[in-house]
Amino acid sequence: MAPDLIAPSILSADFARLGEEVDNVLAAGADIVHFDVMDNHYVPNLTIGPLVCEALRKHGVTAPIDVHLMVKPVDRIVPDFAAAGATFITFHPEASEHIDRTLQLIRNEGCKSGLVFNPATPLSHLEYVMDKVDMILLMSVNPGFGGQSFIPATMEKLRQARTMIDASGLAIRLEIDGGVKAENIAEIKAAGADTFVAGSGIFSKGRDEDPHRYDSIIRQMREAMAGVGR
Ligand code: DX5
Ligand code: ZN
Repeated sequence: MAPDLIAPSILSADFARLGEEVDNVLAAGADIVHFDVMDNHYVPNLTIGPLVCEALRKHGVTAPIDVHLMVKPVDRIVPDFAAAGATFITFHPEASEHIDRTLQLIRNEGCKSGLVFNPATPLSHLEYVMDKVDMILLMSVNPGFGGQSFIPATMEKLRQARTMIDASGLAIRLEIDGGVKAENIAEIKAAGADTFVAGSGIFSKGRDEDPHRYDSIIRQMREAMAGVGR
């Protein structure tokens, strides 16, 4: 079984102290930095771009950076994120005119590729490109904002995606994004996820409990998942 990876979404971090926030959450045991890129076009919000990704690398962040593109068009910005130090680059199929080409572009730029599925987007987009994805990301909220509630229908979709991955025999990670908390992470893992994005569930909750220390909330997530199969 692939290891569980916890991926704090820096969308809920304190942007005025971003480097320190990322250092702290990694020191607390997080595995991956989830980096939400929004363009006020594909989604109704505006966040951060390649300059901030590069700044985190220059700051000394060596952990994988998981760039979640909520932008349209996609291809223009892919090489910029590869040069800025992205590890994964995932995008929404609705945002690319040529999904296969974009997946190839991401790998050709030296990054791991992934497709992101909105709550109402069918998994059928995967049918002819399974061999070109390293990550499948299921949105359990509609993209654009942190702090929303997990949409329950995503549980069944996770089970379907897990079945497809296992049948393919490929080493594809199954990531979940939106409304993930210590309280529901065990059920999400049991449904098939192996990579867990949490924004408000880590940064806001952790900050409430112990200002700018995230050890306890990440420990709670790991304890909840211990012994749960997928
Ligand atoms: C939403 C983003 C998420 C967001 C999740 O569009 O893709 O990564 O930060 O936030 P929470 O964990 O608070 O639902
Ligand atoms: Zn995200």
